[in-house]
Amino acid sequence: MNVIQAFDYEQMSRLAAAYIIKQVRLNPSIVLGLATGGTPEGTYRQLIRDHKEFGTSYQKVKSINLDEYVGLSPHHPNSFRQFMNEHLFNHLDIQKEQTQLPDGKASDFIQECKRYDILIERSGGIDLQLLGIGENGHIGFNEPGTSFQTKTHIVNLTESTRKANARFFENLSSVPEQALTMGIQSILQSKRILLLASGNHKAEAIMKLINGKVDEGFPASTLNLHNDVTLIADQAALSLVDRGKGAEHGR
Ligand code: PGA
Repeated sequence: MNVIQAFDYEQMSRLAAAYIIKQVRLNPSIVLGLATGGTPEGTYRQLIRDHKEFGTSYQKVKSINLDEYVGLSPHHPNSFRQFMNEHLFNHLDIQKEQTQLPDGKASDFIQECKRYDILIERSGGIDLQLLGIGENGHIGFNEPGTSFQTKTHIVNLTESTRKANARFFENLSSVPEQALTMGIQSILQSKRILLLASGNHKAEAIMKLINGKVDEGFPASTLNLHNDVTLIADQAALSLVDRGKGAEHGR
């Protein structure tokens, strides 16, 4: 794993955006795997700024998001579809029909998961997957204990995940209890992975990821099995990592 240390959230976001922009410019038809949450918001702001100032085009880009809440329609203000529209898609020249998320209101979730797997396969696979990490080590909504063999599936969200996401909702009880998520196997099949982490509350997860063994009890540890992972994390998120592990400093 290539580890890049940023000073703070802003620098992490700028470095992450620069990484993504480089890949989009190298391959204008790139398939991006995208994530929601507080972590990528700043990166998306930087992508928008670059698009407006320097004209990086997303006209041929396809995107496939990691997950969506069960029970929320694409128009629900807290759906991940709305998050992506507001924080990214509405401000780029990407074609909306080329942007994909699981359907949280599907009538048959087993079929919906199959549809999503086929969609990933038909896209030719994800070229660059952007990931955040949960405090409990989840990636996407793959909670601790998820088999590394999983493809898209329905999950019961843990209490800690629901609490962490409650800040986006009116209260904890309005946070959905289930979600559809790309599986760990699907994530690992991405050609490149860019993992972002910021803040003290992520420090323990990042320490476990870098120092720890590969273990289904800590989903992010599966990233140690992939040969092209870049972690961009700020000082706070790297604060518990042994100095000897030597993160490169971002510029
Ligand atoms: P966050 O969530 O970006 O809102 O911290 C990350 C995650 O839970 O994967």
